[in-house]
Amino acid sequence: FLEANDTKMSFLFAWTLLGLLVCCDVGECRRRNVLLIIGTPHLRALSERSVIFKNAFTSVSSCSPSRSTILTGLPQHQNGMYGLHQGVHHFNSFDGVRSLPLLLKQANIHTGIIGKKHVGPGPVYPFDFAYTEETNSVLQVGRNITKIKLPTEEERPFFLYVAFHDPHRCGHSQPQYGVFCEKFGNGESGMGRIPDWKPKYYSPDQVKVISSYLTRYHTLSLTHLQRGRILRPNTRRSAGIGLVLQELWDAGFENDTLVIYSSDNGIPFPNGRTNLYGSGMKEPMLVSSPEHRQRWGQVSQAYVSLLDITPTILDWFSLPYPSYSLSGGRPIELTGRSLLPALIPEPSWVTVYASQSLHEVTMFYPMRTIHQGRYRLLHNMHYRMPFPIDQDFYVSPTFQDLLNRTQSGQPTGWFKTLNEYYYRERWELFDIQSDPTERRNLAGDPAYAPVLESLRDQLLKWQWQTEDLWVCEPDAVLETKPEPQCRLLYNGL
Ligand SMILES: *[C@@H]1O[C@H](CO)[C@@H](O)[C@H](O)[C@H]1NC(C)=O
Ligand SMILES: *[C@@H]1O[C@H](CO)[C@@H](O)[C@H](O)[C@H]1NC(C)=O
Ligand SMILES: *[C@@H]1O[C@H](CO)[C@@H](O)[C@H](O)[C@H]1NC(C)=O
Repeated sequence: FLEANDTKMSFLFAWTLLGLLVCCDVGECRRRNVLLIIGTPHLRALSERSVIFKNAFTSVSSCSPSRSTILTGLPQHQNGMYGLHQGVHHFNSFDGVRSLPLLLKQANIHTGIIGKKHVGPGPVYPFDFAYTEETNSVLQVGRNITKIKLPTEEERPFFLYVAFHDPHRCGHSQPQYGVFCEKFGNGESGMGRIPDWKPKYYSPDQVKVISSYLTRYHTLSLTHLQRGRILRPNTRRSAGIGLVLQELWDAGFENDTLVIYSSDNGIPFPNGRTNLYGSGMKEPMLVSSPEHRQRWGQVSQAYVSLLDITPTILDWFSLPYPSYSLSGGRPIELTGRSLLPALIPEPSWVTVYASQSLHEVTMFYPMRTIHQGRYRLLHNMHYRMPFPIDQDFYVSPTFQDLLNRTQSGQPTGWFKTLNEYYYRERWELFDIQSDPTERRNLAGDPAYAPVLESLRDQLLKWQWQTEDLWVCEPDAVLETKPEPQCRLLYNGL
């Protein structure tokens, strides 16, 4: 299962393919567009035209940091978007980052964004067409699917990023529309109407469809009502995706547009969003290329991550990643890879990395992880601190239930106590194959010492490669002169 050269080999592969694509002269090249959809699926029509990546993961389980990695190809610790972008949180990517929309704009590709943006600063993420929460209500741009349509026709090739806000929790900001904004636009009094959406209601026995997914990672009981509440905004989003694809097809772009569908972070439940366990990291990922029909409808087991989206889209447009440095040191290298080669034969990609530092500005809890084959290793650097809880998750019925039960001395009904959720081991090693819910930490088991060591080495290597300032944490300090090295603190960790 251990394939240390995995990344390098696939890069070679990607660049070989790139070489082939560049062979046609500009004038002879077919027009190529990209539609990138961020949301969650009921997507039969699209999946029949896609390779479906079963092992797709985010590289950080938090909104702005994740979107920044999608749009830069750089992990959050490298592009600077350590936490949420909006309001007092105010996180931004570094001014020198060359993002995907910037590189595409420089290559004369028309760029557009519809829906939730949630990244900055503006000059790092320039879009020619923008219809986002920066100038409109996020409910209108991210949840009103009638507003999520292709912008006007353009002669140039285009890159359109469509970002749904469903089914983000709503309880903390717009409680009048329900826990997941499931009532918004349903036509009831005060809820408004969305002309293109007919809300679907589910009876508890229909909801079994997703309960198996949820129970796999969240044995914490959910009320039937709550399950229905998650599903309704999902139908709104599905309808929206259908609309956008129909418009794309009606406009005659079906044979020249790469469509990528994914999501940005984990489900907002315990162990989910803001965590780097499987339930915080797993994503849908469909890649539909009209030029690679060989594997349409097939499932790929290759390990892919949201860090792969930027390299994929650059590859599609035959654009190289520029040589530049953010630190004044050596040039940046993307550690993700183009997914286009995986649309031809099945690749043997078995490794992904992830990195989280904050979510809200108060929620500092740096974690790094490598997931390779059947094993996931987590490094919880500040493991002596309680795991931080975000505002909208705090007010969720699920977390309130956890708190209430704990306070009154009842069992949580989940496989973790609240205390176990807060206080983690420094190293967590899980065998996903025999323990998919990640309950047994094998890090202290001598039988797994070689696995632990190998994964730890690879994780550290990736941290150095991506210029991670946390690379020496928590027991040493990174000193950059005369050359970067970890200087021990002797702090007993
Ligand atoms: C959604 O957008 C449409 C088109 O602009 C508008 O007619 C409708 O009122 C909006 N729905 C809601 C719930 O705001
Ligand atoms: C796209 O290609 C398919 C298969 O070659 C063809 O049937 C279809 O008409 C094409 N669509 C457009 C809009 O050109
Ligand atoms: C938790 O307890 C508070 C205070 O007793 C109560 O208002 C709330 O409804 C309870 N929440 C849940 C989810 O049980």
